[in-house]
Order: sequence, then structure tokens, then C-alpha cells
Amino acid sequence: MIIILKIAIIPEPISVISTPGKFILTENTLIYSNKNLLDLSEYFRNLIYPATNFDLNIKSFDDKTAKNNSINLLLGENKTKLGAEGYDLEVSPTEILITAKEPVGIFYGIQTLRQLLPPEIENQNVVKNMEWDIPCIKVEDYPRFPWRGYMLDEARHFQGKDIVRRLLDIMALLKLNIFHWHLTDDQGWRIEIKDYPKLIEVGSKRDETQVGGLFSKKRDAFPHSGYYSQEDIQEIIDYAKNRFIKIIPEIDIPGHARAALASYPNLSCKGYPFRVSAHWGFHKDVLCAGKEEVFEFLQDVFKELVELFPSNIIHIGGDEVLKDRWKECSDCQKRLETEGLKDEKQLQTYFTNRISKFLNTIGQEVICWNDALDENLKEKIICQYYLRGKKKVFEYIRKGGDVVMSNFKYTYLDHSYSFTPLKLAYKFDPIPEKLEKQYHKHILGLEAPMWGEYIPNTKRLEWQTFPRLIAFSEIGWTPKSKRNFRSFYNRLNHLLERFDIMGVNYANLQKVKPNIFKRLLKVFSLITEEKGGN
Ligand code: ACM
Ligand code: ZN
Repeated sequence: MIIILKIAIIPEPISVISTPGKFILTENTLIYSNKNLLDLSEYFRNLIYPATNFDLNIKSFDDKTAKNNSINLLLGENKTKLGAEGYDLEVSPTEILITAKEPVGIFYGIQTLRQLLPPEIENQNVVKNMEWDIPCIKVEDYPRFPWRGYMLDEARHFQGKDIVRRLLDIMALLKLNIFHWHLTDDQGWRIEIKDYPKLIEVGSKRDETQVGGLFSKKRDAFPHSGYYSQEDIQEIIDYAKNRFIKIIPEIDIPGHARAALASYPNLSCKGYPFRVSAHWGFHKDVLCAGKEEVFEFLQDVFKELVELFPSNIIHIGGDEVLKDRWKECSDCQKRLETEGLKDEKQLQTYFTNRISKFLNTIGQEVICWNDALDENLKEKIICQYYLRGKKKVFEYIRKGGDVVMSNFKYTYLDHSYSFTPLKLAYKFDPIPEKLEKQYHKHILGLEAPMWGEYIPNTKRLEWQTFPRLIAFSEIGWTPKSKRNFRSFYNRLNHLLERFDIMGVNYANLQKVKPNIFKRLLKVFSLITEEKGGN
């Protein structure tokens, strides 16, 4: 009898050729690698150890004796075609070979190998009477986009280190490489800044939380708090680095800053005391753009951030900045006058220019939401597109600006499954149809934002995130011509067997099938709280 082993890889590789036979992973399998890849050998050994109880021997190629029953991780100089992140994987009955130009490619080859093993490999307890078969195969693979991101908003609900580590693990499995960490907003400041202790003492706590949707007057009666010390942040950075994930921290300014204003009211236009906000939506009180102490504060905050985060990219928000206070503030109005600015929109551009210039001079790239785009921006800034202003974004791209796509309709993971069903999410293409070919290179990739207003716990967070993030991993990696929803859906079912074993929650697609009524609610379904996943 011929047993067909399942080949169900997500994201779908560039090329997969199935060949006869299988490799059987045993306790005698050896892992060979270049000397500088020994930590990746260890990563693989640790990955398969809990389920198999195989404590595999690791050796460098210098000590290579036998060829049979070995897994080989090889850096090859001639692999330029695969780019920085690509890899080749060849499984024969006697040997497995992963070759790549860079260690990250080897890491992704390992993730593909992991998906070729039975899903039981994800067990954290020993699985008895299991043959660890890997189908023979030849894979050639590299990503379509360099930016394949997931954003987590912990300002609205703090999740904590264990959950972040778990998400980073899943990101690695899906070959996602950017973790955008939304750490500050109106409802909470979540990162310790040593120069400004009140950001944590005051800004990381709120008394209560709005429940029942954006228009609801109802509050729960529970205080909510949480923050990351700089040691915690360092731990997460190291964890991400070992999974070839870059972390991009976001300090959302000058709007979405009520938690900072509650900590230091002098940073506002009005100066009066504030509470850390307990409700969602737009807030009128923002950082004052007229007072010098605001810029001193931000420079100090960013200096600490830059010391911590090695990614050298800082997200400065810039979304949904209401101008009401700036219009009434004598400091802001004076700034308008002395800088010769026409209006408060230009004042935001002044603000963005000043902060990004500072960040550039200390070696940082800057990214902001597309609300902050303006023809008077002076610095090179990556734009993260989400909603409105598409024309401006096209102009920006045609002038040479780089953009990450997070289109509201498709990529927002906080959306109900009636508004953004999996099938619609999978249709998303980061390259806009009308964008001329010569500008395609300015689309760096995509990012799926997980906004946190309605995710008080892990189960809900995972339910909103998966399986849609799995679709985005394929969109970010696989050539458009190879994408096929039916094929994805079949492979997804296999991947979700892994999620079941890992204990990761996800939306049951039978249960979230949008009915016609819910579909008609469209945007309204986003602003009324939706149950699910608990
Ligand atoms: C956003 O959704 N305010 C970026
Ligand atoms: Zn002001």
C-alpha cells in the first residue's frame, strides 16, 4: 500500500516538487551545520524534543562522518537567487538538506520542515507510538515582500509577556518578520521610560473600561493596568531576534496620547488634570505642538527607546489627530505664526518633521500612519496606509516614498468576521491595481493590525487574529499568481490541526459565516461590540 503523506505548507512556497519516499526522523538522526548555525540546530532540536523525546546530536560539518539519517543546515554563497530570506529544502529518504544564503533562510527552511512533520510534533508532551515521517520533497522558496507584519495594540488591553512570546512563535511558523508593537494610546502607556516614571505609575492604569461598543455609556467596574519594564522589553526583543522577527515600537503622537497627558498634564495645551481614558474613539486632548517641553519629553522618550530596540525603525503614529485644542491654544497659535504655517494641518506636519528629523539624526528610520502624509513632509518616512487619502498615498509612492499596506477593509483583525470574512481577507493584494509597475517596489509589504479595544483576553485575541493572520502570511510571502483560496483553505485545515495541539484559539469558520443581516450592518458591526471566541 502506498501511503501519501500530506504536504500542506503555509505560506505556499514558490516551488514544491514531491518525490518518492520518506525520511524517518529517529533518535539517531544527526544535525549537521556550519559552525555559526549551531544555535539554529539547537532551535530545531528543542522544537522537536517535547513531542519526540529525541535529544538529537548536533555537530558541525567539520566533524561530519556519516551522511545517512542526517539533517544538514548549510549556508551557501551561490544562493543569491533566493535573496536574503530564501532557502532550498531537499528531503530524500536518507538525508535532509536546507541551504540558504543567510541564517534567516535556514530558519524558514526549518519552519517548512516543521510543517512537513506530522502535526503531533507540536505536542508539549511525548507522543508514543508515532513514526515521525517527512515526505520526500524539493522546495525552492523565497518571499514576495520584505515586510510581513503583525501589529498588536496592548494600550487598550495589556496582554503580557507570555502571550507576546506565543504570538512571536506563531509568527515564526508563518514566516512573518515584523512585530509592530502599539505600546501607547489614550487608554494606557505600556513601556517603562526611566526619565519619566509617571508614565507607568499613572499612565499604565485606568479605573474602568467602556463595554458594549463605541456608543455605549456602560463601563465595567474593573481597573485595568499593565506595563513592560525595560528588562521585560529586552527579553521580548531577544526572543523575537531568535525568530528573525524585527520589533517596531509605536509611540502614538501627537494624538492618542491621553495616557501620557494623564501622567504629565503640562504636555497638553490646556494643562488641566486628565484621567487615563476609559472609552474608545477620537480624543480632543493631544500633545501640545507649541510648547518646547513636549519636544524635550519626546526626544528623551525616543532616546530610551532607541537604546532598547535594535530594529532602528520607530513608529510615531500620527493618526486621527483632532485639531480642536491646537486652535484654541496660545502656544500652538504662536508656533503657527513663528513658523509661518497656514493652519493646524500644517502644524501637524511641522510636528512630524521635527520628530522625524530628530529620529533620523540618531540613526532611526521613521514610519507613521497615512493620516500624517503631507506634501510638506521633509524627511524620508515610511507610510503605513490604512484608510482614506489613497490619492495622497499614490502621490507619495510616485515621488519615491515607501509604503506598508494595512487596508482597513481587508487587514484589520479587530473587525468582525461579517465585515472581513477570511475569503475577503485572502483576496487582499498589497499592490494597488492602479499603481504603475515601476512603483511596485515601493510597496514594502503588508501588516495586519490587531487593535485591542475588544480583546480583554487571550482567547478573544487569538480568535480575532486566526485564521485571518494565516491568510496574510501567504499574501506576504507567496507570488500572487500562485495564490488560490481553495488550496489555501485545504492547507489551512491541516495547519489548524497544529493549532489545536498547540492550544491556540481561532474562529470557527462555520460559526462566523456572515449572514445577510450582519453583512448589511457593515461598518456598524465594527462599532458595536461583537461576542466571540470566549
Ligand atoms: C488607525 O486605525 N487609527 C491607524
Ligand atoms: Zn498647544
